[in-house]
Amino acid sequence: MSNSKRYTITAALPYTNGPVHIGHLAGVYVPADIYARYLRNTGNDVLYICGSDEHGVPITLKAKKEGVSPQDIVDKYHAIIKKSFEDFGISFDNYSRTSAKVHHETASEFFKKLYDEGKFIEESSEQLYDAEANQFLADRFVVGTCPKCGNEESYGDQCESCGTSHNATDLINPKSAITGNVPTTKVTKHWYLPLDKYEKWLREWIVEGHKNDWKTNVLGQVKSWLDDGLKPRAVTRDLDWGIPVPVEGGEGKVLYVWFDAPIGYISSTKEWAAHEGKDWEPYWKDKDTKLIHFIGKDNIVFHCIIFPAMLKAEGSYILPENVPANEFLNLEGNKISTSKNWAVWLHEYLQDFPDKQDVLRYALTANAPETKDNDFTWKDFQARNNNELVAIFGNFINRVVVLTNKYYEGVIPEPNEFSDVDNETLEKLRKFPSIIASSIERYRFREASQELMNLARLGNKYLADEEPWKQIKTDPERVKTIMYVALQIAAGLAVVCEPFLPFTSKKLNQILNISENIAWDSIAETEELIAANHQIGKAQLLFAKIEDQEIQAQLDKLEATKLANEASTKVIEPQKETIEFDDFTKLDMRVGTIIEAIKVPKTKKLLQLKVDVGIDVRTIVSGIAESFKPEDIIGQRVTVLVNLAPRKLRGVESQGMILMTDTPDGKLAFIEPENDSVANGEQVS
Ligand code: MF3
Ligand code: ZN
Repeated sequence: MSNSKRYTITAALPYTNGPVHIGHLAGVYVPADIYARYLRNTGNDVLYICGSDEHGVPITLKAKKEGVSPQDIVDKYHAIIKKSFEDFGISFDNYSRTSAKVHHETASEFFKKLYDEGKFIEESSEQLYDAEANQFLADRFVVGTCPKCGNEESYGDQCESCGTSHNATDLINPKSAITGNVPTTKVTKHWYLPLDKYEKWLREWIVEGHKNDWKTNVLGQVKSWLDDGLKPRAVTRDLDWGIPVPVEGGEGKVLYVWFDAPIGYISSTKEWAAHEGKDWEPYWKDKDTKLIHFIGKDNIVFHCIIFPAMLKAEGSYILPENVPANEFLNLEGNKISTSKNWAVWLHEYLQDFPDKQDVLRYALTANAPETKDNDFTWKDFQARNNNELVAIFGNFINRVVVLTNKYYEGVIPEPNEFSDVDNETLEKLRKFPSIIASSIERYRFREASQELMNLARLGNKYLADEEPWKQIKTDPERVKTIMYVALQIAAGLAVVCEPFLPFTSKKLNQILNISENIAWDSIAETEELIAANHQIGKAQLLFAKIEDQEIQAQLDKLEATKLANEASTKVIEPQKETIEFDDFTKLDMRVGTIIEAIKVPKTKKLLQLKVDVGIDVRTIVSGIAESFKPEDIIGQRVTVLVNLAPRKLRGVESQGMILMTDTPDGKLAFIEPENDSVANGEQVS
């Protein structure tokens, strides 16, 4: 553990076509951050890098939709995303962007080297084309049926259902995402990376070589693609947004976004090194460096097949040691979706829960989609906060600090002789750093977060069993030892919670008046983490209870999103066939007022109403019981078709029909005169 090693840790470069949400945080950035912080705390040479992925079709599409330039889009979201990461304590050593000059240069050079060394196949072939839009259809410009899994909404380069990467021409029933047209074809030249040539090597390296240390979800996908056989993949595109193809014949073409983006990790490293006055190369070329890619499952093919093949072709780079991909996080039972606004956006979360960054980090870690897709619910979020962070962690620290201040004015007492319980408790404390470390090193962050909570539980149980607040009257000397032991646990917590709860760790260090961080590895070895006679500070609340109404407000917000989506996707019925004016004048519609309402027994939908329609007061049976309670509609103004032939419904004769319309949530609404003074019996014409 304490042998210092060099680590290059990458987190997937987010597309700058929208802000980042909890799914991003849970899947990639928080686990990578825990890993990076832990490795720094244990004395390693860690480089944790990321940046914005600013090329690719999603950005062009978004720009088109908003009527602005792609540059406007990436500038806007780069700033928002960068700030969200900072706000949540994601401790990147560098956050770059793929529009940076250093990246354009690095990616161009990389391409040129492979080109010069004859690693590409250059080929002219028929590609999908949308004549109306004057656009070749690759990547997200085209949708069709996935040849592998049958998903009907696969993109040109990747199916998000099964994760496969394919060529646009492999799609069954392709359609242009711009015009909806069935594409024609047109001949164009591109450069292809012959993945088939790397198949055998990939199998040996991953399927054989990493069968015991890579996650099963990652190995499973890789194996399935290799079993299907790999094909050459185009690494250039006919687009105008991206990095120009830097070779002869490349005019008007750009690098495929998935060719340039992973090289962004290297460019980000160069940018960092230049800034720090360091050498970037050991982080990518020294075989003792461990390269770890944190990604979501839709990125597996690119990080386990395509990028490694590129690195191998180039020849001077190291390969990833591991690619701990996570599955997806859903939100309240539905897939997170940027276009449907079904997400908890990080910048919005912070408006509603300022200073609760650690709570979200913790809830997302404790419930991370490590081995299967998982659901984020606001109820679980509340429970993680109230029942774990507040009731266990916060409660323990608060008791220790308050009692130390109360009994000893904040000065840590000299302990007397340790009892067996004290020794056992201290022994358990010494083991926690390596228990937590071993979970983190195996990328089991959920498990690690629970072990962290178990250390707080140990502290709570110790205090509950030893009851210093009772013993203070009978055996004050014993209480000195108890408080000393409890304070050791508090100091240990400040250390091991840092990767998970960095803001809390800082605050706890302040409360305990610890100015120089205690080393992670020292906990196992030292007798004393925080010394007798050390003066600690006053109690401060680490976590606050989250009330039901705060959770309800979040649920209401999601409900409103759902309604808005339903309204926008509701099909408007086509117009009915034309009628003559005489047909219309046959209808006798009057304004009325409901004066009585009761439920028709044994029915779900029917209300029996008495309605004053000016001419008379009549009985009308109406199918509105699922939308209104009888007592709520007395006095309601309505429009009534009064000359509809009477008919019996459940034995009651209905003498007319109340006109209604639908609301987006599937309920009914009355059609009523906008002016209250309109009298009952007035005609509608
Ligand atoms: N932008 C991609 C996504 O959001 C990830 C790119 S990762 C990199 O899915 F390796 F290409 F950088
Ligand atoms: Zn598929």
